[in-house]
Amino acid sequence: MSDKRIVLIDRDRIKDRVHEMGRELSGKFGNQGVIVIGVLGGAFIFMADLIRQANFASSIDFIWLESYDGTKSTGEISIRQDIHVDVRGQKVLIVDDILDTGLTLRFTRDHLMKMGAASVDAAVLLRKNREDADPTLAEFVGFLIEDKFVVGYGLDYNGRYRHLPDICRYSSTPDEPK
Ligand code: IMP
Ligand code: MG
Repeated sequence: MSDKRIVLIDRDRIKDRVHEMGRELSGKFGNQGVIVIGVLGGAFIFMADLIRQANFASSIDFIWLESYDGTKSTGEISIRQDIHVDVRGQKVLIVDDILDTGLTLRFTRDHLMKMGAASVDAAVLLRKNREDADPTLAEFVGFLIEDKFVVGYGLDYNGRYRHLPDICRYSSTPDEPK
């Protein structure tokens, strides 16, 4: 089986957009504290770049979730590791790599509200353009992309390709993912 990777969004465009998103977030949270929660594994590279572009006081934690098997969402989310920070009464910003079906963000938002967060916003680098997903799940979106599987800049295919500096369209033959 061979795989193909085609650059969809290169590192320079990512850098510029993440810089802008940092300014957008600073505009919203500038003078207030916000707890930033990264969704692992996909968010770690985006989050590392984003928080260094945003000049708001923040504390940082992670939630580690699982839902994907290869290129398909299993439709069920499980928590591999929960946050440790106390979010009660606090403004929270979720950072994730991509908004696809919306299952992950809906789950994470509900989870944090149940834990007593005062408000929850979400920032994603990518949002897939699909009609069945609720776009209001992420207030901050880096790029809108077509509904194809992508890797790189933190996004993986079965744990691989997270290290690629560009966002790449991934496909393999003969089991071509959509
Ligand atoms: P959702 O729950 O369907 O919105 O999917 C969100 C999660 O699925 C993200 O946090 C990613 O980890 C993963 N995901 C969705 N689409 C892709 C993709 O194209 N490439 C890699 N991971 C993806
Ligand atoms: Mg993920």
